[in-house]
Amino acid sequence: MRLLTFSFLKNCKYKSIYYGMSRLISGGVLQPDIDATKEEADPKLVEISPSWKEDMKPELRATVLKDMQVYPDFITEREEADMLAELEPTLKRMRYEFDHWDNAIHGFRETERTRWSESSECVLARVRALAFSPSSGAGTPLPHAHVLDLAAAGYIKPHVDAVRFCGDVIAGLCLVSSAVMHLEHTTDKDLSLHVLLARRSLYIMKGEARYSFSHAVLGGEHSVFRGEKVPRQRRVAVICRSQPRPRDASDGTDATVHSYTD
Ligand code: OGA
Ligand code: MN
Repeated sequence: MRLLTFSFLKNCKYKSIYYGMSRLISGGVLQPDIDATKEEADPKLVEISPSWKEDMKPELRATVLKDMQVYPDFITEREEADMLAELEPTLKRMRYEFDHWDNAIHGFRETERTRWSESSECVLARVRALAFSPSSGAGTPLPHAHVLDLAAAGYIKPHVDAVRFCGDVIAGLCLVSSAVMHLEHTTDKDLSLHVLLARRSLYIMKGEARYSFSHAVLGGEHSVFRGEKVPRQRRVAVICRSQPRPRDASDGTDATVHSYTD
């Protein structure tokens, strides 16, 4: 019966997920066993700002480069189209919100999703295997993914994800349009970096990058990476986060994950 639940994995592009999964299921652990070493982050998609001089906090620079990585072409065009087609009916029923000036996000609509089509479930199994592998110490992913649809004119102001709603790892699939993310140290503005969130890439933000730096998704006019303009259209992110650490778990207030403060 349990195997039936995962029968979709037989059709996954990455068969190793299925075989690994079936092996683990018989051992009683529901964690896919994909060979995550096949996925390679591209360090060129992260750029340290000129204000972060060579001799400033070199250990922190090395750590943040390890803790903020982008995997280009993580999904195929087909997988992107399938995922979007699945999300579109829900998203189209919502209006983009522009009017809350104090929100961290401007020009967005969002939803959460737990149950996915076969194609998307395959993609998300690969995301979880890479970003939340048991050896990474990332903790367990939340059961739902957060779907954030930014309008062409939308942007996300600098914020640190609230620890009440999110643990150590934030893994985001980037659909429809590339965008530029800016990370800035919470106490020293000179320590900053830009990240090219290329269309169909996956980024994984954890550790220092997640806790000690704010992150922002830049609006069209500021959307520049390594001196080149990055045209911003509508952008959809499908974000998987780890469960909050037990000591940080929700205290019942109605703040959201992208509130400015923890
Ligand atoms: C957020 C956020 C980044 C993204 O929702 O908190 O920072 O990739 N999203 O859309
Ligand atoms: Mn965030």
